[in-house]
Amino acid sequence: MIHIPKAEYTRRRKALMAQMEPNSIAILPAAAVAIRNRDVEHVYRQDSDFQYLSGFPEPEAVIVLMPGRQHGEYVLFCRERNAERELWDGLRAGTEGAIRDFGADDAFPITDIDDILPGLIEGRDRVYSAMGSNAEFDRHVMEWINVIRSKAHLGAQPPNEFVALDHLLHDMRLYKSAAEVKVMREAARISCAAHVRAMQASRAGLHEFSLEAELDYEFRKGGAKMPAYGSIVAAGRNSCILHYQQNDALLKDGDLVLIDAGCEIDCYASDITRTWPVNGKFSPEQKAIYEIVLASQEAAFKQIAPNKHWNQAHEATVQVITAGLVKLGLLQGDVDELIASEAYRAFYMHRAGHWLGMDVHDVGEYKVGGEWRVLEVGMALTVEPGIYISPDNQTVAKKWRGIGVRIEDDVIVTKQGCEILTGGVPKTVAEIEALMAAAR
Ligand code: GLY
Ligand code: MN
Ligand code: MN
Repeated sequence: MIHIPKAEYTRRRKALMAQMEPNSIAILPAAAVAIRNRDVEHVYRQDSDFQYLSGFPEPEAVIVLMPGRQHGEYVLFCRERNAERELWDGLRAGTEGAIRDFGADDAFPITDIDDILPGLIEGRDRVYSAMGSNAEFDRHVMEWINVIRSKAHLGAQPPNEFVALDHLLHDMRLYKSAAEVKVMREAARISCAAHVRAMQASRAGLHEFSLEAELDYEFRKGGAKMPAYGSIVAAGRNSCILHYQQNDALLKDGDLVLIDAGCEIDCYASDITRTWPVNGKFSPEQKAIYEIVLASQEAAFKQIAPNKHWNQAHEATVQVITAGLVKLGLLQGDVDELIASEAYRAFYMHRAGHWLGMDVHDVGEYKVGGEWRVLEVGMALTVEPGIYISPDNQTVAKKWRGIGVRIEDDVIVTKQGCEILTGGVPKTVAEIEALMAAAR
C-alpha cells in the first residue's frame, strides 16, 4: 500500500516551524465528529491541515507547535486510552501512542488542555491559528489567552499578535512533494479503474446509484478507504446539474451519463469526470458536443507548464468551446465578441479547473498581488471543461437540449509541462465505444 511516510510529517512540521516568526506558537484542532442523525455519525475524516502536519487520524486532538522549545517542539493533545470507550468506538493511540507512533515530543490528555495550554502559550509573542474557520475553536483560543491575561499581575505575558496560519501552511500544501505525487498517482490509478468499471457496467434500466456501486467497489477493492467527495452520477438531463448528488434516477437508452468521482488515499483526492452514452454509442449530437469539450481539454493541457499563468488553460478552453458552439450554430456571432461578452457562459459556466490535493478543491492562492499565479513544478490541478445545454434552453433546437458533457483529468506541473495522472481511463469517442462494446 502506498502511503505518506512518517518522516514526511516530521519534515512538514519542521518546514512550517522554520517559517514561523521567532518565539511563536501554532495551534490546530482536529476535525470534529459530524452527526449524521441521532446516534449515527458520518465517517470520520481528519481535517486536512491537521492531517498534513501529523498524520494523526483521531478526533478530539490538538496540535501545538513551538519552534525552539527545549522540551520538545511538537506537543499533541489527544484522547487517553480507555478500555470501555475503545470497546464501543475503536482503538485510540493515547498519549503514549502519540509519542511512539506519531512523533510527538510530548503528549497530554485532551481533557487537560485548559490547564496546560495557557502555560505553553504564555511568554510566546505570536499565536498562529486558522482564525475564522472554526468559531468554537477561536473561542477556546481566546479563553486560553484570557487565562494568561488574568495572571498579568503575577507577571504572566500574553501574546500580542495573532496570525492566520493559512498563509504559510496553504502555500506549503500547494507544492506537492515526491511522496505526495506518488500517493496522488495511486489514488488516480484506482479512480481510473473505477470509471472503467462503471463504463463497462453501464446499461439502460439501471439506476444511477448502481453505477455508483461499481465505483465504490473499485475504490475499496483497489486500496482506497473512501471517495474524496460525493460521487456525481448524473444521467440524461441531470448531467446539466454541475454538482448533482441525488444519484437515484434511471439510466435511459439514448442518454448520456456523466460521472464525476474519485477516491482519496491518506486524505489525497483524485477527481475524474467522464461522460459516456448509457447504451455505448454516442448520437451525432452527443458526439459533436463531446468532441468540442475534448478538444478544449487538449488545448488546455498545452497551457500547463512552468511560467504559464493559472488562467491560460481556462482561456484556452473558452476559446475552443466558443468557436465550437458557433460552428454548431448553438451560438451566433463573432467568436472574439462572444468571448468578450461571456456569451459562452450559458453553456460553460464554471472554470477549467482548481488546485487538487488533500482537499478536492485544494488550498492555495490563485492570484498573487492581483495577478494570476504562475504555475510551478509540483503544483497539482484539474482540467475539466464542460458544455451543458439546459433542458429548458429555448434558444437551441430541441435535439441539443439536456446534453451535458464534462471531461476532467488531474495533472501535476512538471519541468517539461504536465503529467496527466488520470490517463488510464478512455477518453476519445472511439476508445469509449470500443471499451463499452467489448463489455456487452
Ligand atoms: N468534483 C468536483 C469538481 O470537479 O470540482
Ligand atoms: Mn474538479
Ligand atoms: Mn470533479
